[in-house]
Amino acid sequence: MTTADDAPQAGARRPARRPRPATAGDGPALPAPSGWFCLALSRELPRGAVLTRRFADEDVVLYRTRAGDVRATRPYCPHMGAHLGHGSTVVGETLVCPFHRFAFGPDGSCVSDPDGVPLHTGVEHLPVRERNGFLFVWHGHDTDPPSWELPADPGPEVRPTAHWAVETDTHPQEVVENIADFRHLGTLHRLPVRLLSSPTADGPYLRTNLRSDAGRIPLFGQFSWEESTLMAGLGWNLTELELPRYGLAVHLWGLPTPIAPWRTVLRVAAACEVTDPSRVPGPNLPVAHAALTRVVARSTLRMTARIIRQDVPIWDHKRYEPRPRLAAGDQSVGVYRHWARQFYPSGPDVGHDPA
Ligand code: FES
Ligand SMILES: [Fe+2]
Repeated sequence: MTTADDAPQAGARRPARRPRPATAGDGPALPAPSGWFCLALSRELPRGAVLTRRFADEDVVLYRTRAGDVRATRPYCPHMGAHLGHGSTVVGETLVCPFHRFAFGPDGSCVSDPDGVPLHTGVEHLPVRERNGFLFVWHGHDTDPPSWELPADPGPEVRPTAHWAVETDTHPQEVVENIADFRHLGTLHRLPVRLLSSPTADGPYLRTNLRSDAGRIPLFGQFSWEESTLMAGLGWNLTELELPRYGLAVHLWGLPTPIAPWRTVLRVAAACEVTDPSRVPGPNLPVAHAALTRVVARSTLRMTARIIRQDVPIWDHKRYEPRPRLAAGDQSVGVYRHWARQFYPSGPDVGHDPA
């Protein structure tokens, strides 16, 4: 498990593989889903930097050009196969292979070599997006361009100020299912909540609304609140918690990324913004508000990490049930499973419908 300070390293190295079957017990395997998945924080990739991340059991090389553009590419140089994540350099807007110094341009094509005769080939770039201080790469089941986009940022001034990450022996679908499986919040985490309405699906997006009548928010004690979570595929979800009494809103991102079969990095990040300066506790000064919002974000993240540490042993050891025996009150899990089917290729039964 990682801490807030070493979170940026999550997924950077090949995970120590345990003798865990990729099919997760006796059930059928779930392939890596399609969608946008976070591979790094923006701050991990300054201009001129090159970074290798594991993604869906393959290496992906990320780099940022001198102009600030982020690109993601398959790792092997088409010339003679050098790994571009080991020794490549960014020169202007190109990535230069360390072996024979062929340079690859914005569209991936080879634009030069030291003898002035570029190859008539190039590297394959992957679709990449930069949002709210995160870098996302698209995973698809074919070569088609991304069929949908991440939702709009909560606001240009909303940047996460607290980060944490953990690796676990599970699949992103199982991680995100925790949001739909709201009943476990009371039993495992002692955070009783109720569903305000059935989850609503809109293409690759799914929204849930919960209410807690006896919850605790760090620094603010126990009171009631409502929270709304928007999922965009299985790699991005954002929970928004309004605290109108204090003139604040908290944004909490959950970003699970498949790095290998049944192995996931879960990145979590928090931001807090002022929605009504007159209600914020303490001096009504921008510097005081900035300090308070950082403290609230960090405290919320710590609470979330404590909750997730309770989930990890369940994820690490549970079996994937393709047709769970859902009980009364589990309807939202059924809605979630049905929605999640769209992120897999059609073909062999991967069992997403509950019995
Ligand atoms: S292997 Fe990359 S330039 Fe030769
Ligand atoms: Fe949980």
